[in-house]
Amino acid sequence: MKAVVINQPGDSSVLSIEERPMPVPDKTHSVMKIHAFGVHRYEVLTRAGGSPDVKFPRVIGVEAVGEVYATTPDSGLKVGQRVFTINGGFGREFDGSEQEYALLPNDRFFIADYQGDWVKFAQYPETFYTAFGSLKTLKLVAGQELLIRGGTTSVGLAMLQLAKAIGLKVTATTRKPERLQQLLDFGADQAILDTNNELQTEQKFDGIIDMVGTVTVNNSLAHLAKGATCCMMGLLAGEWVLKEFSPFELIDKYLTTFGSDDVDQDLVDEMFELINQHHIEIPITKVFPLSEIAAAQDFVMTNTNMGEVIVSNDL
Ligand SMILES: NC(=O)c1ccc[n+]([C@@H]2O[C@H](COP(=O)([O-])OP(=O)(O)OC[C@H]3O[C@@H](n4cnc5c(N)ncnc54)[C@H](OP(=O)(O)O)[C@@H]3O)[C@@H](O)[C@H]2O)c1
Repeated sequence: MKAVVINQPGDSSVLSIEERPMPVPDKTHSVMKIHAFGVHRYEVLTRAGGSPDVKFPRVIGVEAVGEVYATTPDSGLKVGQRVFTINGGFGREFDGSEQEYALLPNDRFFIADYQGDWVKFAQYPETFYTAFGSLKTLKLVAGQELLIRGGTTSVGLAMLQLAKAIGLKVTATTRKPERLQQLLDFGADQAILDTNNELQTEQKFDGIIDMVGTVTVNNSLAHLAKGATCCMMGLLAGEWVLKEFSPFELIDKYLTTFGSDDVDQDLVDEMFELINQHHIEIPITKVFPLSEIAAAQDFVMTNTNMGEVIVSNDL
């Protein structure tokens, strides 16, 4: 089987397509045949050596959709079962999605009630689960006002659709004036600029998702209504540490975060029910075969269109 191995960090030329033996299931692990997966900027950062906990050689890629290919009798899995996986060490502590087959712990196989083709299915696991899980931390109900800071990201676009489906009023941000109309076309009730990390509005919101990160979180808190929550779950600006923070900013407000590592099957079921009911999807900008993984990663870094980039093993 083919695997994209990174032997040392670097640019896309370090992605080496190698022939490897088929993985074999054991008492605690089964084999997934990978049909498709999303490609993300944060994985390109890992490839370049930006994730200190990832040791090379490694096959990266934190999510995949596919089927159970080989398992053992007590695993609780069935050969041919349609599954997906995200995180939990996948593509970081052990080999991830950039290969044809992967060996996974049995408890990292998740089930989705989704009947679309593999490429469409591949847009959902990491991007939508992150969006839905983050949204849930805000505990909003229909009619309330949500702000998505980083509205043009794939996670932001997914969240916008999910939030509209549960009846929220959604404001989404971008740094680029030419993208405001695109956000409205995509279903946002309001689109606003985020200029030099300042929201260009006086409005307060019942809940805020902040994906820009530590550099904007104080400004986000200033735009929260009393009793409301801000979930800072992305670091687009690349700053890990919150340098200036006054705890008194939090009086009668809440700050939290979300990580897609812990996958709750009930939350997955609720999310796919919403997706199926409202036919929710985001644009798929381009689909690449595994043999063009370097081009796929380069494209993700230069792509100016909003949406997901997918690799399909069936091309
Ligand atoms: N917590 C979790 O479990 C989890 C899981 C997955 C992803 N994430 C995070 O979620 C975020 C979105 O991921 P994604 O893959 O959906 O992103 P993406 O689609 O690659 O996002 C691209 C967009 O990010 C915006 N952007 C880039 N640099 C920025 C900066 N310095 N300041 C503000 N905006 C910037 C740009 O929007 P404009 O130019 O239009 O402003 C750009 O179009 C990332 O921070 C990612 O790390 C978190």
